[in-house]
Amino acid sequence: MESNLPYSAVVRAVACSLPEQIMTNKDLEKLVDTTDDWIVSRTGIRERRVLPENQTTSDMAVDAARKAMEAAGVTPDQIGLIICATFTPDYVFPATSCIIQDRLGCKSAAAFDLNAACSGFIYGLTVATQFVQTGFYEHVLMIGADTNSRLVDWQDRGTCVIFGDGASAVVVSRSDRRDRGVRSSYMRADGAGWKFLHQPAGGAKRPPTVETVRDRLHHIKMDGKSTFKFGARAMAEAAHEAVKKAGLELSDVDLMVPHQANIRIIEAACGHMNFDRERVIVNIDRYGNTVAASVGIALDEAVRNGRVKDGDNLLLLGFGAGLTWGGVVLTWGC
Ligand code: ACO
Repeated sequence: MESNLPYSAVVRAVACSLPEQIMTNKDLEKLVDTTDDWIVSRTGIRERRVLPENQTTSDMAVDAARKAMEAAGVTPDQIGLIICATFTPDYVFPATSCIIQDRLGCKSAAAFDLNAACSGFIYGLTVATQFVQTGFYEHVLMIGADTNSRLVDWQDRGTCVIFGDGASAVVVSRSDRRDRGVRSSYMRADGAGWKFLHQPAGGAKRPPTVETVRDRLHHIKMDGKSTFKFGARAMAEAAHEAVKKAGLELSDVDLMVPHQANIRIIEAACGHMNFDRERVIVNIDRYGNTVAASVGIALDEAVRNGRVKDGDNLLLLGFGAGLTWGGVVLTWGC
């Protein structure tokens, strides 16, 4: 769909950062009452990455960002804005993006965090796109990074088996090419479902106390079944709406890159959409749900494996806590 805005916003490079340490389902069998069989059959996950204790979200974010900037051929002083999508920031404040800005030496960049949980990559890419398409910034660095191993309850088998740590980053840049870049974006929220996925304590509503720690209220609480049903419907809706806004049909999409939460959610969404599984990127087996990083990690892998060609129409999809969901249609290349 032809845009009235002065520029195109292209993804000039994508990169990711994954901790070296692998935690397999067998390792989890030693921690909670679960089995490799149960996890594989119910989620599709075989292993996930776990960040060492002496590192944090900003470390993975900086690593992914450096790789993306190098691949894009963009220097730190050219970055106008840094967005870090995360729900596991280093600190409640200041924003993790400010720590990243300092470490990257992006002296003239503004920086803020964005919390849309597992929709973080979609929301972040959409925000970055607005600043570039209007000409406000020439280059925006958008990072999705989450250290989920710090937030999960390692005694709760319903949640600890599904998450993993990781970061991904994109450099979103101004371009005059109308046939490349972000073609549409669709973002939604439904706060009525906030309780499906939340951390009860640690915020202003319930500051930390001895009791909140004792009662394990600083960990992720999730209504798995409700989230599952919502996820499949939300991804299908986002796909239809984003594609329609782009003036395309689902058959014009070369590759779908969905949020990696559960293989059965991806399959259910594909079923709702009648979308061919061959055109879907899946890597949940190796990384689990890396929240805001997930779509970028899958995109980076697809690019490195040669599955993305110049001119391909990509459909990126996310859903998560909030509740939030959305999709971006992007024509690859710059
Ligand atoms: N190992 C073995 N058994 C388990 C485990 C486990 N790890 N976890 C739960 N079970 C048991 C339950 O106790 C239950 O037993 P019961 O029947 O005796 O009560 C049984 O397995 C079935 O439990 P369900 O919760 O119904 O299992 P379900 O098939 O729904 O799978 C899961 C659970 C994997 C969490 C699924 O609901 C899911 O993926 N939900 C979506 C999560 C998600 O997508 N989150 C994304 C957003 S995250 C964000 O935004 C931060």
